[in-house]
Amino acid sequence: MKGRLTELRAIGRDDLQLLHGWLNDPDIMQYWDGRDHPATFDRVEARFRRSVEGLDRDAVRFMIDIRDGETIKTIGMIQHGRIVPRARHTQVDLLIGDPEYRDSGYGSDAMHAFLGYLFHDQKLRRAWCTLRAPNARAVRGVEKCGFVREGVLRQHDFLEGQLVDVVVYGILASELTVD
Ligand SMILES: CC(C)(COP(=O)(O)OP(=O)(O)OC[C@H]1O[C@@H](n2cnc3c(N)ncnc32)[C@H](O)[C@@H]1OP(=O)(O)O)[C@@H](O)C(=O)NCCC(=O)NCCS
Repeated sequence: MKGRLTELRAIGRDDLQLLHGWLNDPDIMQYWDGRDHPATFDRVEARFRRSVEGLDRDAVRFMIDIRDGETIKTIGMIQHGRIVPRARHTQVDLLIGDPEYRDSGYGSDAMHAFLGYLFHDQKLRRAWCTLRAPNARAVRGVEKCGFVREGVLRQHDFLEGQLVDVVVYGILASELTVD
């Protein structure tokens, strides 16, 4: 899968070290599992092993690469959950792990390419995501891709010892703009 700025590719064993670093980065963890949940390498390996083997249907994951001439840099990861068969929808999620590459349009570009793949190749009707309400950057990122705010799950999550609201965003296949 290719966006304007990013390329998505299958996850490999060599990516586990990067993922381990990202899943211990406080900037990411504050909106992911929480900064009070450090990820040991063993836990990361257990979580991603089936993805590396291409066998995980509960979380289908791709790495986000950018290319500069011959140089390829891996900057993040994007995933979708199990596809609900008749309703044809799935939950999506992403992270730009390398802080240097946040706020430069890479996240929304990768999501846009991913939605193209889900709607055109996988023939889904809808994709949705949940975001912690305070995660203003992620909210802005998905809104840039055309996601619509569908509701608030009040005090839905327990993150770092606090109850937080979770916002639900969704996009229909017919709403995806093509460049
Ligand atoms: C959230 C994330 C995936 C977005 O990817 P990204 O490449 O940084 O996103 P983009 O650059 O495409 O878009 C981000 C937008 O948010 C804006 N933004 C940044 N901080 C913001 C803030 N505090 N409030 C409002 N908008 C903000 C940026 O300016 C940009 O908008 P613009 O292009 O109109 O200027 C990425 O920043 C990330 O991984 N962050 C840490 C982990 C995380 O929160 N993951 C999501 C958990 S579900």
